[in-house]
Amino acid sequence: MRARVSLASDGRSSGFAQRLFTPLPERYDRLAEWLSFGQNGRWRSEMVGHALAGAPELVLDVATGPAGVARQLARRGQGRVVGLDVTSSMLEAASRLVAADGLEERITLVRASGEALPFKDDSFDALTFTYLLRYVPDPEAVLGELVRVVRPGGVMASLEFAVPEAAHWRAAWWCYTRLVLPVAGAATGGRQWYDVGRFLGPSISGHYRRFPVSWTKAAWERAGMDSVEARTMSLGGGLVMWGRKAGG
Ligand SMILES: C[S@@+](CC[C@H](N)C(=O)[O-])C[C@H]1O[C@@H](n2cnc3c(N)ncnc32)[C@H](O)[C@@H]1O
Repeated sequence: MRARVSLASDGRSSGFAQRLFTPLPERYDRLAEWLSFGQNGRWRSEMVGHALAGAPELVLDVATGPAGVARQLARRGQGRVVGLDVTSSMLEAASRLVAADGLEERITLVRASGEALPFKDDSFDALTFTYLLRYVPDPEAVLGELVRVVRPGGVMASLEFAVPEAAHWRAAWWCYTRLVLPVAGAATGGRQWYDVGRFLGPSISGHYRRFPVSWTKAAWERAGMDSVEARTMSLGGGLVMWGRKAGG
């Protein structure tokens, strides 16, 4: 049994993200936990708590992958959830997991890109996105597109990896991401997870060199969000950001 996936458009979607993620869904949730020392679950739970603060009736989860966030939003909240992703195999895994949790009536899956959402302005009470901004060429434009579909007063919350600020933790993080992660990825998930392990550290460092956290916070505000707050977690390795759309 599977939940239905509707195909909207993948017009401007990133071919790189689709190539990277297509082979990963089967073991994604388990390996994401192992490779983050179990921290991914804590970060996700914090983000979901912010998104559900206003008891939203309709939530959009962008870059939903195998729908781990979307399923948690449905389980902890009362409303309906739309999980959106650009990678078909991720949505196929999401569909199986949504059905296994008996959440087909509450979660709809849509294949589309976060760069061009197939929804009208102000459609959602809340929006979440996880590990998305490193995969899009123009994060500022994507933030504008995400905020567009949130209703005034609605919450947007995100989760991203981050680079620890304290020099000693940053050095430990560098060693972990450059040396341990590729080997641990290969040992637990084979060649594909070795590639992910090698890609992740430089991708995170490169992203924050171009778009520091202060830039990201300001970009949320430029996109129309108020009261934007950020919390770094796990010694600076995870970053949860949240705010409300102006005008509510
Ligand atoms: C690291 S996974 C995170 C999955 C999920 N959010 C989670 O935390 O379990 C990143 C996801 O972003 C999706 N993605 C990348 N670029 C995207 C885009 N432009 N629009 C929508 N999804 C995208 C990938 O297909 C992948 O499923």
